[in-house]
Amino acid sequence: MTLRDSEAGAERRPVRIAVFASGGGSNLQAILDHLRGPAGEAARLAVVVSDKPEAGALERARRAGVATRVIPVRDRPVDAVAAETLDTLAEAGTDMVALAGYLRLVPAEVVRAFRGRIVNIHPALLPAFGGKGMYGARVHRAVLDAGCRVSGATVHLVDEHYDRGPILFQWPVPVRADDTAETLAARVLRVEHAIYPPTIEAVARAVAGGEAVRPFRVPDATTFTLAAGDAPDAWQVRRALGLE
Ligand code: GRF
Repeated sequence: MTLRDSEAGAERRPVRIAVFASGGGSNLQAILDHLRGPAGEAARLAVVVSDKPEAGALERARRAGVATRVIPVRDRPVDAVAAETLDTLAEAGTDMVALAGYLRLVPAEVVRAFRGRIVNIHPALLPAFGGKGMYGARVHRAVLDAGCRVSGATVHLVDEHYDRGPILFQWPVPVRADDTAETLAARVLRVEHAIYPPTIEAVARAVAGGEAVRPFRVPDATTFTLAAGDAPDAWQVRRALGLE
């Protein structure tokens, strides 16, 4: 039975999500925490995949009792990486994939197999300040060097190119006159943690319903008063995502 076949009224099994991460995994942690709440009925983590055995994200997954898998990428033919990735995703019964600080290009074969069901979060307002090599502090330094007064976080569908697939959801973050790459990164990261888990939940609910995922609307009156430690209002985010 596919997810789509489930009849109205029949028990729908939670959508199984694979998270790919290369780093510390604070976004993964936010996803884990979110799925411990009511969203856990709709979705759960099937496996956490990393290209790096030392990734902090793997430790966070283990602590949460989620299966982990290291799939090395460096110096390997892309076909081998694609095949191992597809096997891993199939074994875990994966319905959708969320990249959370994954620094590798997802093989085209994997994108094809999960088209419309792979999401990523980027710490700027795409399509600006994205692409190959634009990750971590480099993104925030580029935003500051360009003199931007506004940055933000973007959730988008993943295609065959870095940071280029259709944008699903964005949230603006003010740039302060005295910002460094570090202070801006911290402000953006808080917003990432606030918007990524509920956006994944909304995408999972669309996947469960067999619907195509469409862009979500950021509320017009988005507040521009976020201090470094602030996160957007959870209710406002959930309303924008159609979860309220
Ligand atoms: C985040 O800023 C995310 O936007 C980017 O990589 C970073 C990952 O951080 N894609 P973490 O590993 O989730 O803490």
